[in-house]
Amino acid sequence: MELFDVYPLFDVEPVAAQGCTITDKNGVEYLDLYGGHAVISVGHSHPYYVQMLSEQLKKMGFYSNSVQNPLQKELALKLGSLSGYGDYSLFLCNSGAEANENALKLASFHTERARIVSFEKSFHGRTSAAVAVTDNPAIISPLNDTVDRIILPLNDLDALENELMEGDVAAVIVEGIQGIGGCRVPEPSFLEEAGKLCRRYGTVLILDEIQSGYGRSGKFFAHQYANVKPDLITIAKGMGNGFPVGGVLIRPEFEARKGMLGTTFGGNYLACAASIAVLDIMQSEQLIENAEIVGNYLMTKLAGFEKIKEVRGRGLMIGLEFNEPIAEIRKKLLFEEKIFTGVTGTHTIRLLPPLTVTREQVDRFLSALKKVLG
Ligand SMILES: Cc1ncc(COP(=O)(O)O)c(C=O)c1O
Repeated sequence: MELFDVYPLFDVEPVAAQGCTITDKNGVEYLDLYGGHAVISVGHSHPYYVQMLSEQLKKMGFYSNSVQNPLQKELALKLGSLSGYGDYSLFLCNSGAEANENALKLASFHTERARIVSFEKSFHGRTSAAVAVTDNPAIISPLNDTVDRIILPLNDLDALENELMEGDVAAVIVEGIQGIGGCRVPEPSFLEEAGKLCRRYGTVLILDEIQSGYGRSGKFFAHQYANVKPDLITIAKGMGNGFPVGGVLIRPEFEARKGMLGTTFGGNYLACAASIAVLDIMQSEQLIENAEIVGNYLMTKLAGFEKIKEVRGRGLMIGLEFNEPIAEIRKKLLFEEKIFTGVTGTHTIRLLPPLTVTREQVDRFLSALKKVLG
């Protein structure tokens, strides 16, 4: 059987990974500034993370979801404390799209409405409701029309209020920083006003922090640069450092009912062990602070490159928009300089390194980029 061929791939086969370094089958080492789509938060194969997962695996194997799983509570407590959302509750699932599906469903239960507002260039996942509120022409299907949604320009408060005034909007969903949209940052004042408008019109505000959360922005959540408290916050990616896990943080006003949400694998023992290890490492190695310091340093240096039209993002979530197509630049960075980067569209490079990345490593990238750009 062949694989269903949907991924554009470079001819590099990784066989080992450690910290911010990936080694291919020929023994060539690469600096990883992409972290598998912002997934690697505490670095590849962190010894504490590997130990926590191995010990858990030996104890219970792959035993799945259980309401009696004490690790779920430990995870919720640690996550509440590190994120500043200790008064919220946590629903665990397996991926980002699933987290958004659950958040949209919760919003519809809570408001008894069905209409959703999302924003241009947003990405919320590839399952049916998540993809319907995503603004990406490559993945539109007739199924999108089964969800009653409208896509507005980001940061346009008048357009938002016009929709909310109708009184039928269940949820507004917005990314803390747009990921696939190229690291566009919503204005803090927009998020703050959106929060107030949602309250006024009885609409649920969902912050999708699946890519921008977990310390990447230099705060636990990117929306914490604004004075806003969303009703629901969705998480995944960096949460498990590669182990598939996702979740929804839920404001106390939302009342749980038995059977309201559910999943077979969500919150399984291994996912919890991975997620707890991530939080422990983030705290003991002060990775949120590192993301802020190294990220700010990198962004400041990049702002001095003439060929870069715009540097966007925060912390270690950085988009570099060029005047020219970037395919060749990325190829040279990978094959000549041995550095992995990400991409959005044809003109934007995305940097999403592990939060452990050092100043020396980003200096190596800066010299390589200078060389490649001539
Ligand atoms: C902001 C955002 N939301 C949701 C998703 C979907 O997550 P997953 O691929 O885990 O379903 C992604 C994935 O890239 C994302 O960047």
